Amino acid sequence: MSQTSTRMAAVIRDLQKHYVLKSETVRALRGVSFDVPEGDYVAIMGPSGSGKSTLLNLLGCLDQPTHGSFLLGDDDVAQMTDDELSTIRASRIGFVFQSYNLIAQLSVVENIEVPLYYMGNLNAKSRKRSIELAKMVGLGERLDHRPTQLSGGQQQRVAIARSLVNDPYFILADEATGNLDSVTTEEILALFQRLNDEGKTIIMVTHEDEVAEHAKRVIRLRDGEIQIDEAVKDRKIFTPQQIQEIAHNADVASRGSE
Ligand SMILES: Nc1ncnc2c1ncn2[C@@H]1O[C@H](COP(=O)(O)OP(=O)(O)OP(=O)(O)O)[C@@H](O)[C@H]1O
Ligand SMILES: [Mg+2]
Repeated sequence: MSQTSTRMAAVIRDLQKHYVLKSETVRALRGVSFDVPEGDYVAIMGPSGSGKSTLLNLLGCLDQPTHGSFLLGDDDVAQMTDDELSTIRASRIGFVFQSYNLIAQLSVVENIEVPLYYMGNLNAKSRKRSIELAKMVGLGERLDHRPTQLSGGQQQRVAIARSLVNDPYFILADEATGNLDSVTTEEILALFQRLNDEGKTIIMVTHEDEVAEHAKRVIRLRDGEIQIDEAVKDRKIFTPQQIQEIAHNADVASRGSE
């Protein structure tokens, strides 16, 4: 197999972000370079103030770098106008947040459809697609539930389904398990692994080693620079049987609470 056939979800070169304040300029990112091949599963770590959120904002097209390039497919995000930026953000990046960010008035299926709504792509096909995604994350029997009728893990699974509805370059997860207990964290990590095994690219920011060791690769930031970029040693991998058990237990637990 040829190495050159690997497609890149993102190519980042010498990315810098400076915040200009009255009294000083904060160099939050000081020249960060890395590639994210399609199918990668990256954990971004680092101490407070090291630049994780700044990098995440750039990867999520929420902000522009001061210097450097960031290729999403063939497009250089660093050269885009604000309008182009918000279009690509809505259409090609899947966000998963610590606090789920679901809309309380909408059902599971409707929440999954929200990014399509923003793109003006709501049609009969999109309903079918969100139902498929709901089933994929194990919520096929809760299509009409509202977020308040769901457990934290289930809400995060809705958010993950929503993140996939636009067929994104990658899922960008910001402390996605930060609000969850250890059992539910496993449930979400098992889902991430399943999606990644199926080829989805995942980039997550986490403070927790136990979460990061499920990724394939860790990028550690320090003072706005990459300190370490390496494959995860002794990566924790769920067996197919464990994945099935975890999904089953999550289902049983939530039925008990109904
Ligand atoms: N809007 C801003 N204006 C000025 N300085 C900023 C701004 N956002 C971040 N910074 C500074 O940039 C540096 C990196 O901040 P960033 O939020 O990216 O760190 P972080 O790694 O996400 O930290 P934490 O783990 O605490 O969330 C810090 O020194 C921070 O004070
Ligand atoms: Mg942060």
